[in-house]
Amino acid sequence: MKICVIGTGYVGLTTGTVLSDLGHDVYCVDNDKTKIEKLNEGKVPIYEPGLSALIDRNKKRGRLHFLSDIHYGIKECPIIYITVGTPANEDGSQNLTAINDVIDSIGQSIHSHKTIITKSTVIPGTNEWIHQTLMEKGIDSNMFDIVSNPEFLREGNALADMLNPDKIVVGVKRQKPIETIKKLYTKIHAPYIITSLTGAEMIKYASNAFLATKISFMNEMARICDAYDVEISHIASALGRDKRIGPYFLHAGLGYGGSCFPKDVRALEYAAKQKDIIPEIVMAVQNVNDSQINLYLEKLTNELTNLNGKKISVWGLAFKPETDDTRESRSLLLIKKLLEKGAEIHAFDPIVQLSDPAITVYEDMYEAVKESDALIIATEWSQFKSVDWKKVKDFMKGNILVDGRNIIDRNHVAGYQFHYIGVAR
Ligand code: UDX
Repeated sequence: MKICVIGTGYVGLTTGTVLSDLGHDVYCVDNDKTKIEKLNEGKVPIYEPGLSALIDRNKKRGRLHFLSDIHYGIKECPIIYITVGTPANEDGSQNLTAINDVIDSIGQSIHSHKTIITKSTVIPGTNEWIHQTLMEKGIDSNMFDIVSNPEFLREGNALADMLNPDKIVVGVKRQKPIETIKKLYTKIHAPYIITSLTGAEMIKYASNAFLATKISFMNEMARICDAYDVEISHIASALGRDKRIGPYFLHAGLGYGGSCFPKDVRALEYAAKQKDIIPEIVMAVQNVNDSQINLYLEKLTNELTNLNGKKISVWGLAFKPETDDTRESRSLLLIKKLLEKGAEIHAFDPIVQLSDPAITVYEDMYEAVKESDALIIATEWSQFKSVDWKKVKDFMKGNILVDGRNIIDRNHVAGYQFHYIGVAR
């Protein structure tokens, strides 16, 4: 099938590449010409394990194309994916400028029937609005079908998540496009959840808000466990054994970050308030997440008395392991607060290249700890679990080890005279 994917960000690139690998003829378009040029030269703008090789393979097969002419893509392809960014405004509402531009372009170039599939995360009601807007542009409703088909991809695992999803959520206004979607995904085996356009949008928000709730709940439990001197991982293991709860997303630490959870939870709060509903749980989830960083700051300040002039090393800048994405990274927020308190920051991340004059970034994790008063582990990269702790201790001036992700064997590091700080351990 001939597909146009509009927007070559994280979701668009992954979706387009996997669709071409499944045998479709895919045209990825973006108005950022430099990005398209780079993609045509084989330079992939994001770090996602396996993506670069897959792009290369399908380009060589002649099934994956990158271009900046959106009108060509729309005219040529009966299937159009919308995968442009939907950043949040200050008030939590979404900035729909990019979606608006895409709808304008579709309105100008539509000459035959199009199945328009929205993958971008958009607040409930947006796909109905897209339908309405195209109609207002004078386009007959028989010329197009709008489908809401949210993605549930995790960064770092996006290819596998797209090929083996737990479910395929499809929101439609009428039955007709469901067959098209099933043909598109013939090679993907997963149960279908068919719902309304707004239902599909809501599923995406409910999923992310629920997962964020699990994390914030465990972080709150960790605070309570801390006070009662109880090990939080024991609680997580026991809860995880209960099939009704499940073993995932029960890991306490610095909290959630990334391009999705913080933005989507905020957007759900906004969407609820638009309808005069006060989403108490959703608001509490964010409050716990926001204040979790302070918990660690307090623990560190209790040990060092004053952070002014202290040399603090931070391992991990990405919002989670296996990605170079630092959007809403807890690590960067923590660093910002440490800098405000006058600390000097020496950082290391296995792949993030950060150029911030306020921070010294090292290419070697051990170099980053030289002469430091404290070391904070802010992202759970696996290499931080197998460290030469003697070397770290010898290099450091102080002995404080703040484990912001509860990943270190505290008994092991105690053997090197570290003063270990985790939460509820
Ligand atoms: C998430 C959703 O998982 C995905 O379905 C959606 O499409 C996009 O948002 P992603 O942002 O890639 O994916 O990250 P994820 O792996 O879900 O982790 C999000 C954050 O939660 C990270 O900062 C991580 O460190 C944190 N987290 C996760 C915890 O603090 N504890 C946990 O137990 C799990």
